[in-house]
Amino acid sequence: MCSIIGYSGDDIAAPIIVKGLRRMEYRGYDSVGVATESNNQIELKKGVGKVEEVNSKVNLEQLPGKIGIGHTRWATHGKVTDANAHPHPSTSGKIAIVHNGIIENFVELKENLKNEGFIFQSDTDSEVIANLLQKNFELSKNVKDAMLKTISELKGHYSFIAMFENGQLAAARFHEPLIIGVGKNNYFLSSDVLGFIEQTDEAIYMDNGNFAIINQDQIQILDFQGNEIKPEITKVSKEFADVYKGDYAHFTLKEISEQPETIFKAGENTKNSIKAVSDYLKHSRNIYLTGSGTSYNASLVAKYLLAKYAKIKSESIISSELQFSPDSIEPNSIVIAISQSGESADVLEAVNIAKKNDCKIISIINSMTSTLSRESDIVIGMNCGPEIGVAATKSFTSQLIILYKIIQELNGDVEIDLDEISSSISKILEEHNNIKKIANALKEISDIYVLGRGIHYPIAIESALKIKELTYIHAEGIAGGELKHGPLALMDDNVFVIIINPEDSTYQDTLTSAREIKARGAKIIGISDKESDAYDYWVKIPKTSELTYPIAETIPIQLLSYYCALEKDTDPDYPRNLAKSVTVK
Ligand code: F6R
Repeated sequence: MCSIIGYSGDDIAAPIIVKGLRRMEYRGYDSVGVATESNNQIELKKGVGKVEEVNSKVNLEQLPGKIGIGHTRWATHGKVTDANAHPHPSTSGKIAIVHNGIIENFVELKENLKNEGFIFQSDTDSEVIANLLQKNFELSKNVKDAMLKTISELKGHYSFIAMFENGQLAAARFHEPLIIGVGKNNYFLSSDVLGFIEQTDEAIYMDNGNFAIINQDQIQILDFQGNEIKPEITKVSKEFADVYKGDYAHFTLKEISEQPETIFKAGENTKNSIKAVSDYLKHSRNIYLTGSGTSYNASLVAKYLLAKYAKIKSESIISSELQFSPDSIEPNSIVIAISQSGESADVLEAVNIAKKNDCKIISIINSMTSTLSRESDIVIGMNCGPEIGVAATKSFTSQLIILYKIIQELNGDVEIDLDEISSSISKILEEHNNIKKIANALKEISDIYVLGRGIHYPIAIESALKIKELTYIHAEGIAGGELKHGPLALMDDNVFVIIINPEDSTYQDTLTSAREIKARGAKIIGISDKESDAYDYWVKIPKTSELTYPIAETIPIQLLSYYCALEKDTDPDYPRNLAKSVTVK
């Protein structure tokens, strides 16, 4: 998603802004730009491409001045072009803005502004903010009043930073993230703490519906009615600064490889919360789980586990779907929201609906300072460290461990052996040469199906998602028993099918499915602790306890997707069209 950044302080702004943008690259983007103010003049450079490319082409870092704004754009309105890249100047060039989010009423605002003589140079929704600010600033000659009037005219979800030619910065937050970094002699504005964590670990998490004005060394925070708010400074964990690839070729591989350790931290130091969650679950009539993408897939595992091990019925709801059936949530229920970033707009919207229904919100989150964290009654931390690769990997296994811990709290007979899980992951990571060979066989394939039964079905869905994201190969997760109800028609010798088949209660039925598929000419990749002649390729996983299997079988698919991305020469860390934090609906 778009990242915005602003700087005002004693140092030259452009290099600091470019550095911040580089650190937020993981969020996903297609173009980049920087504007700075010096001697009451705004200068601006931007272009399509990665920060490195655009910087070496137009020298973003050489813009003069100690005040500036920057942006990486993830296109929503208007194609990926230089003109649509941010920052956008107002018609007079006296104000420039960067924006993350969507201005829903931009068509009418743009029409009105055009009729008043304002000129537009892009197809973006964002440019209206620059021209509205210019209009309102010309009327009031005052940044605060111009901001209040502009905000009152905007509809949608946004965070934006405006730079005025007099050197003032103003930034508003409405349902998109915006954090202020507070340094010794400087202020930073950013979509993510990573944008400034190397400079300062003191931050003000702006509340929704607040805006800030920075005038050299003075900061003022106000709500959308113009009332002054006392800023609260929080210390940000330095762990966030640790976002380097080290010896790994990609963040994705680093994050896959960290899992033998990260699983130990999942839900750590939240013993009381896990107990509190289990008490809520025992006493609530209705329980819903919600999330998007991988986090939703984790919720499907949770639903299975709650039913099987705690005899608790629950319902998993895709976060983006809830707005279309808000009545499917009973008032006064428990809603467990799962989100790595804690910033997914769809999840926040689902939580908003649940809160309107007086539900208790329990969240499982990696980024503990996120918006979701602040919206929740109880928060359990994944604690797996920053996940930079766009595809969720270590966060998924951490989510599963937290869910296991909750199940264990509900049913004392359930045993989780973290050492066993960790050593299983390590053993599978050692299998990477076999997995690389299979990745090579997959590189020309256009369709992959992943089959699993019972608890392995959500893993099949998650596996298909990972394959799609990282390799751009069409992939689909299938419940084994559904094969004969349709998907069997697709099986021929152009297809690969991954069979998730540990030796548990699902084993025989799934093996039968594998044989039925093989008889139609498709190639079979068996992920199992037991070898079979049904498999053309066998990925061995260790024999483990039932709760270890879902994690053990996830790892080979993460590796397979990663190595296949390399075979196909796609960038595993930044898959096309995707963003890490999906902060727009
Ligand atoms: C999949 C993936 C996405 C995210 C989804 C939710 O690999 O990364 O599907 O899982 O966008 O993100 P969070 O968990 O941050 O709410």
